Amino acid sequence: MKHRLLPVSLLLCAVLGAFSLSAREDASVIPLPAPKTEGGKALMNVISQRRSARRFKSDEIPLKTLSSLLYAAWGISSPDGKRTIPTARNAQSLEVFVLFPSGCYKYDAKNNALVLSVRGDLRGYAFMRPEMPRSAPLVLVYVGKNTSMPAEFNHFHAGAAVQNVYLFCTAEGLSTVVCGGFDKKKMAEAMKLDEGHTVLYTQPVGFPAD
Ligand SMILES: Cc1cc2nc3c(=O)[nH]c(=O)nc-3n(C[C@H](O)[C@H](O)[C@H](O)COP(=O)(O)O)c2cc1C
Repeated sequence: MKHRLLPVSLLLCAVLGAFSLSAREDASVIPLPAPKTEGGKALMNVISQRRSARRFKSDEIPLKTLSSLLYAAWGISSPDGKRTIPTARNAQSLEVFVLFPSGCYKYDAKNNALVLSVRGDLRGYAFMRPEMPRSAPLVLVYVGKNTSMPAEFNHFHAGAAVQNVYLFCTAEGLSTVVCGGFDKKKMAEAMKLDEGHTVLYTQPVGFPAD
């Protein structure tokens, strides 16, 4: 009887692991399930309800939801490689990272995966004000890559991604706030970013605390 139960429990672990982040906490690559690319709440309702919120439960966000959130921010939405947000001359000079308690991961939209870049909890670098939440289960970090175009174009790109994330969170009952008030140099050092890469904004995401 024991022998018959073992494969079942292994299978269960594998299935749960596919949907839970903590089951993959130490992985150097976290494959994401396919994002949701259709449906959701009516656009004008979501636009009207969007708000910043700063208190989060520490509960983990399901991987499917995270995949859809990242798709909204910076996903590839057509076979020619165009993204869910516009970029100047289609330069795509943006990178999106996710800070978890276990480490900092880069979103690889092409392979729909998160790739470990730095181990350890960097979420504390994301907020300057002490009242800012440290309980959010994840923090997005928007990083601009230098191009020959004006640097402010990268802020535009991050802004478009930030707004998509706001709207996604509103539709999915998640809380978020964009943050520009923190030490970006320290954050870039902690993330071990290459030359020519600039931290632009952070955006914690989680279920509302209230
Ligand atoms: C560029 C930018 C930077 C921001 N930086 C911070 C920040 O560092 N900390 C914070 O709590 N909110 C920050 N916010 C959020 C604003 O405070 C918030 O959008 C504003 O109060 C309006 O509220 P609403 O988003 O709910 O409409 C920032 C917003 C923007 C657009």
